[in-house]
Amino acid sequence: MPIIAPSLLAADFLHLQEECDMLNKSEADWFHLDVMDGRFVPNISYGLPVIEQIRKTTKKVCDVHLMILEPEKYAEAFKNAGADILTVHIEACVHLHRNLQQIRSLGMKTGVALNPHTPVSLLQDVIQDIDMVLIMSVNPGFGGQTFIPHTLEKLKQLRRMVDEKKLPTIIEVDGGVTLDNAASIVQAGATALVAGSSVFKSPDPIATIAQLKRVG
Ligand code: DX5
Ligand code: ZN
Repeated sequence: MPIIAPSLLAADFLHLQEECDMLNKSEADWFHLDVMDGRFVPNISYGLPVIEQIRKTTKKVCDVHLMILEPEKYAEAFKNAGADILTVHIEACVHLHRNLQQIRSLGMKTGVALNPHTPVSLLQDVIQDIDMVLIMSVNPGFGGQTFIPHTLEKLKQLRRMVDEKKLPTIIEVDGGVTLDNAASIVQAGATALVAGSSVFKSPDPIATIAQLKRVG
């Protein structure tokens, strides 16, 4: 069964406590937390103080997705705010290997995100240092966009790379994941699904999470 990581970007921020309570009651495995800086992506979301508060509401894994430039400047602060997995974008890292060492030395799991235009082959020489690869299936910056079909091809390539090297790498997909396409995404090799709008805008988020868990 895939790991389900609802993205709080689509939550009702005026009722964040209730939204966290709902996720805690549900079969969601992780909290997916999207941080945007208005530079790496053309949007600004929320940051450290909000994550610090969310951390207090849950024992579930906090999966922090940094869509920011120079993520190395903030790794320690996100550790202190409660991140368990820290994902940086390959396009935002000049010294990716060094950044991953930093994240591990702070005691977090390492994640690397790839934009839709970034080839999976760029991971060839660093994949052994990555706990999770996040394949973006939309251009990062906004929730509620449509899944880019070519993502399935990238997932298959990454699945092949990871299997050939016999690595336990988690493969996460982020953007436009719905009950309609989740099965094909898992079939292509994903082991973790991020879902924002399809969970929080659904009439029964807890049931939707349960259904996502059972796809494929
Ligand atoms: C987009 C974020 C996603 C976003 C997904 O840049 O990384 O995590 O919240 O939202 P949906 O599931 O609505 O596409
Ligand atoms: Zn995300």
